Amino acid sequence: MQLTDSGYRLSNDIDPVALGDKYGAPIYIYDSQIIKNQYQRMKQAFDVPKLKINFAVKSLSNINILKLFNKLGSGLDCVSIQEVELGLKAGFAPKSIIFTPSSVSFQEMQLAQKKGVRINIDNIPMLEQFGAEYPDMPISLRFNPHIFAGGNRKISVGHINSKFGISVHQLPHVLRIVQQLHLQIEGVHIHTGSDILDTDVFLAATEILFNTALSFPDLDYIDFGSGFKVAYKEGDNETDIELLGQKFSKRFNLFCKEYGKTLTLMFEPGKFMVSQAGIFLVQTNIVKQTPAAVFAGVNSGLNHLIRPMFYDAYHHIVNLSNPFGKKRIYSVVGYICETDTFGLDRQIAEIKEGDYLAILNAGAYGFMMASNYNSRLRPAEVLIHEGKDYLIRKQETMDDLLRNQIEIAL
Ligand code: LLP
Repeated sequence: MQLTDSGYRLSNDIDPVALGDKYGAPIYIYDSQIIKNQYQRMKQAFDVPKLKINFAVKSLSNINILKLFNKLGSGLDCVSIQEVELGLKAGFAPKSIIFTPSSVSFQEMQLAQKKGVRINIDNIPMLEQFGAEYPDMPISLRFNPHIFAGGNRKISVGHINSKFGISVHQLPHVLRIVQQLHLQIEGVHIHTGSDILDTDVFLAATEILFNTALSFPDLDYIDFGSGFKVAYKEGDNETDIELLGQKFSKRFNLFCKEYGKTLTLMFEPGKFMVSQAGIFLVQTNIVKQTPAAVFAGVNSGLNHLIRPMFYDAYHHIVNLSNPFGKKRIYSVVGYICETDTFGLDRQIAEIKEGDYLAILNAGAYGFMMASNYNSRLRPAEVLIHEGKDYLIRKQETMDDLLRNQIEIAL
């Protein structure tokens, strides 16, 4: 979103306030142009013969977004059988989907196997069980490199205390199972965390995976997961994808020479693809002065966007209704019956009741982590695509809240 002479504008000069009036708030708005740009940017950053980007469905799974990624040529990274089914419904070929679950049941693995998607295994008991049942199915293995990386503890997943992946130190055990069951290992994978800023962390993890990869002679791909950081405010650093691409490609191409085969380089970004493409538009219910602060209370809360409360994540907030107003200091809070602060002590153009506020970087893990807490309805989603706006999910209704409840005679 840009601030122009006429106020904030989305791509194709679309006025977000008009969308608020048309669809009502709260509402998630996504811009397909930004998603396309991010996808192309990433494709161009890596100079390797074979690159596959698998969009992380967990970050934003609306079927229209998935279809857009399919059109762009992306694959999908899925963590649940439901994500797999959504991906197939969106038109993805099974082999364009890689299933990387954590601690799921063998039954769920079997369902995914039946769908024909690629299977990425993240623990030894599952490797033994799955391998014994499907020895002919090529699989990939998720390793834990024991690297601490990520924006905060909750989203760092490649360290020694993490539940994810098979420890790289367990490689000898893995190799015995692979040999014993005659398994075909087509890929190796790591994912160390989300919001990683330092390109050297990626490169360090890379070396560990390369070392591991040398033990598997029949690989087709190496998957380096994700963790690319995006900017959450002006001046904020983001992963320098172009620099990373340059360094990484050189190293990857060299590795392929050493390995003796041109492997596919895979990544599975979520935030990098969709975070900045989304805004969450809310409306101000109340402006309340207390002895300590001025609160702007909006018609949403942690039920709709939990990142600020759950991760202390910074999401920039602007007043769409008064774009050039004098800045004052507000705490923007939600309507939930516990503390749900979207932004503490923020300089925002003067807010009046009824004003639309936009919470930025809401595309990734925004709607996806929404709930019905306080029996609130989950909001609508709108997609801006080629200059037009489309409602791509309706706001829930009371019927949705009651849909699966069963009233008994009391
Ligand atoms: N691959 C795997 C195996 C993952 O576990 C994840 C994210 C991704 C790829 C995508 O990572 P990304 O590009 O989005 O950083 N809800 C948290 C983020 C949790 C990420 C979980 N795994 C947040 O809102 O920050």
